[in-house]
Amino acid sequence: MHKEIEHPVIKHKLTILRDERTKHKEFRELVSEITIFLAYEALKHVELMETDIVTPVAPTTGYKVAHDIVVVPVLRAGIGMLNSVCEIMPTAKTGFIGLYRDHDTKLPIEYYSKLPEASDNALLLLVDPMLATGGSTNAAIDLIKKNGYTQIVVLSIVAAPEGIAAVESLHTDVDIYCAAIDECLNNDKYIVPGLGDAGDRLFGTV
Ligand code: PRP
Ligand code: URA
Repeated sequence: MHKEIEHPVIKHKLTILRDERTKHKEFRELVSEITIFLAYEALKHVELMETDIVTPVAPTTGYKVAHDIVVVPVLRAGIGMLNSVCEIMPTAKTGFIGLYRDHDTKLPIEYYSKLPEASDNALLLLVDPMLATGGSTNAAIDLIKKNGYTQIVVLSIVAAPEGIAAVESLHTDVDIYCAAIDECLNNDKYIVPGLGDAGDRLFGTV
């Protein structure tokens, strides 16, 4: 399943994010803000368990999220989304996966990974602003599954139809939430219209 979040505020923020004149400070803020919408949507159907509490007025039954939430940013650009998920789910554990696309082949090269131990009820949110060919997301999901995780949700800000198809062809059990599904990839495998290189724009390395 994949879902493009429809919200006028996301469209407004995305337009500023895409604009080549937007500098890294504002870019970083916008990535954080849009991620809040994505996390909110992705967690809409999360399982709950009942818990008895007493308010200052009366006993009542409340709810707790039934999952151990784990958030995993794909380095570098996923780092820009990490804090927003942690703000919504402050007890989330964090893992990291380092991948970069080889300049020539555009295939992902893994250079780092560290994941929390997978519990039976873990729900893992994989965050990366760009889902282009889908190679990086597929490589990250492969690694995550090898580490024992079974419930995985991807949050991306801009996705290409080719990337979504690539992930869905290999991982039918993984849901994808994105803020925009763009037109296509160009010859350099960049998303069109996209927003350029997310890592460079986030961290001011251009
Ligand atoms: C970007 C992005 C994704 C990947 C998407 O990372 O953050 O991880 O490309 O492309 P794909 O779907 O074709 O694999 P990049 O390789 O630029 O690394 P960086 O974040 O370190 O700059
Ligand atoms: N990685 C990016 O940062 N942007 C794209 O458009 C494609 C891959």
